[in-house]
Amino acid sequence: MSKNVLVTGGAGYIGSHTCVELIEAGFNPIVIDNFSNSSSVSLERVEELTGKKVCFYEGDVRDRQFLDTVMQAEEIDSVIHFAGLKAVGESVEKPLEYYDNNISGSIILFNAMRDNGIKKVVFSSSATVYGDPHTLPIKEDFPLSATNPYGRSKLFIEDILRDIYYADNHWQVTLLRYFNPVGAHKSGRIGEDPNDIPNNLIPFIARVAVGQYEYLSVFGGDYDTPDGTGVRDYIHVVDLAKGHVKALQAFEKDDLDNLLTVNLGTGQGYSVLDMVKAFEQSSGNEIAYKIVERRAGDIATCYADPSYAKEVLGWQAERGLREMCDDTWRWQSQNPQGYAA
Ligand code: NAD
Ligand code: WQD
Repeated sequence: MSKNVLVTGGAGYIGSHTCVELIEAGFNPIVIDNFSNSSSVSLERVEELTGKKVCFYEGDVRDRQFLDTVMQAEEIDSVIHFAGLKAVGESVEKPLEYYDNNISGSIILFNAMRDNGIKKVVFSSSATVYGDPHTLPIKEDFPLSATNPYGRSKLFIEDILRDIYYADNHWQVTLLRYFNPVGAHKSGRIGEDPNDIPNNLIPFIARVAVGQYEYLSVFGGDYDTPDGTGVRDYIHVVDLAKGHVKALQAFEKDDLDNLLTVNLGTGQGYSVLDMVKAFEQSSGNEIAYKIVERRAGDIATCYADPSYAKEVLGWQAERGLREMCDDTWRWQSQNPQGYAA
């Protein structure tokens, strides 16, 4: 069996961390990325951290000819499909861009896989597909819904993959539903590098801590949660990356279903103010904040039941809140301009 894994979007935040873990586990990532939300510097850093050359091709998953060229040049065994756009708010403004990048891109990729005889795929789905859950913690068989084009694109790609599998059960499909990825590699050399003003909580807090922003706007202080602020299941990106390695390894096990849907979360919820406090401890800096209006589309509480991941993948998160904040801080303070500097 070839250990070559095509990693779409492999230069991005989760992709770059996954490349490190893949290499350390003996896999050989072949990255394709159009660098629309990343740069090749992340891959240089992956090389620096692992001491291995990373094979990468610059191009778009919507370019069928490009995909055929890569798939014919490399003996690819499986695909991890990260490439896509991910900002919820932007997806409401630019639905066509999101459907084109995420859904059309996935269809073109899956067609190219089939025609090149590659039938193992791990897909980056999201806890967003659960909408506003009726009960907690969230299990994989909970009802699915979407409230924005980004979420709908994830839901639709999941449906496409389920249908591909029902039509040909030689495919092996693993849908990984991530909760809230945070943190960075412990070296501080790779991390999350949003292009614009960060939409997500932890990158924003980190920029307040380095003084780039004056204060954090806390979106809502009147939720039905212990301190009134939103509660989420934050998961260290290195734990998440290791989950992808486990998902690939699980393809080789005969006793598992060929279609798996797995939550990757910790099972622990923290509020916005918990995160502020934890980040103050890690950074030694005060994080100023103001409680403002709720953000449209947000829910009060979201956390996973991660027990199925343990059962089928033998995976569980090992890094706690302190490590998430310490590692984010190391990355942010050592790279205040991200990869640009
Ligand atoms: P990211 O933006 O850092 O990484 C995505 C990568 O894909 C980037 O390097 C980008 O340049 C590339 N890309 C985008 N469109 C492309 C295209 N058409 N062709 C080739 N490359 C393309 O995002 P991330 O946080 O690493 O997320 C990775 C995946 O995980 C995404 O699919 C995202 O929707 C999903 N996800 C992310 C989160 C999160 O909070 N970060 C949560 C759940 C799911
Ligand atoms: C976390 C909490 C906010 C920013 C999003 C996507 C989801 C997934 C992960 C891709 C919430 C609060 C945030 C700020 C704040 N991505 N907050 N001030 O909304 O749980 O999930 O990213 O799949 O699909 O929806 O993450 O980090 O934006 O917010 O108070 O400046 O922090 O209200 O309670 P979210 P987040």
